Amino acid sequence: MYKVFGIIGDPVSHSLSPVMHNLAFRELGLQAVYGAFRVKREELVQAVQGIKALHISGVSVTIPHKESILPLLDEVEETALEIGAVNTVINREGQLKGYNTDWIGLLRAFEERGITFEDKRVVILGAGGASRAVIYAVKRAKAKEIILFNRTYEKAEKLARTFGVTALPWEDLEKAEGEIIIQTTSLGLKSMESPVSEEILKRFKIAMDLVYLPLKTKFLQLAEKHCLTLDGLRMLLHQGVEQFKLFTEKHPPVTLMEKALYEEVKRREKELGLGEEDS
Ligand code: ATR
Repeated sequence: MYKVFGIIGDPVSHSLSPVMHNLAFRELGLQAVYGAFRVKREELVQAVQGIKALHISGVSVTIPHKESILPLLDEVEETALEIGAVNTVINREGQLKGYNTDWIGLLRAFEERGITFEDKRVVILGAGGASRAVIYAVKRAKAKEIILFNRTYEKAEKLARTFGVTALPWEDLEKAEGEIIIQTTSLGLKSMESPVSEEILKRFKIAMDLVYLPLKTKFLQLAEKHCLTLDGLRMLLHQGVEQFKLFTEKHPPVTLMEKALYEEVKRREKELGLGEEDS
């Protein structure tokens, strides 16, 4: 019998997870399929019951459910609890357990470039859903100092308190400096805008953008003149690799998944008329 997996979120039609997971299932000859399920905010309770009733083996969880799903699960892994967000749910005989692989995805993305956070000053932009796993990962990797900037200061302050890091007002970005800067806001998604200027990026050595559409965001375009850069697909790929391991207890074909992701993003850039040629 085929095992069914999927992603729950809203919006979800843009998700690249079906591309990645279905390819890996096919490559490994597994009898499994992965679909995209649009679940509105107010439908989450029913959706979670549905996972059990339909015997869905596992799901990826995305906006806006990563935080609100926690109390609906039977069990939540320690790390996901600490982060306060779940991006993976596994159904084991009707018991749903939540995990978080986003933070591992971020660390792998840096690790594969030989970059460590130890004793570095790290600036994180944004205090939304994506930011939590990033702060957790960077803190766990022993950064010397973590500074959080968010347009809405109260949100940065709240997150900073939760994780024991520093929050500064958006206006102070002009004075931001450090070794690594990680962009987690949604600004730059499908638009050629950057939350920070080149002047600011000049003061960093490494810059990562979590946004991957376009692949080379305005932020990365400005950063690459001065910094080593990492695009958003790196984290997406590696969180997906870890997620696949939880889904199947097998190692996925990482290089093939990577290739498929980049091809799909290139295709979407063309479709939307985005990308480097627009800069
Ligand atoms: P959520 O809305 O659930 O927080 P998110 O997409 O993870 O989901 O969060 C969006 C992040 O991008 C937030 O940090 C947001 O800043 P605010 O907290 O001030 O809303 C940030 N963001 C979105 N648009 C932005 C913009 N134009 N300039 C700066 N930051 C922006």
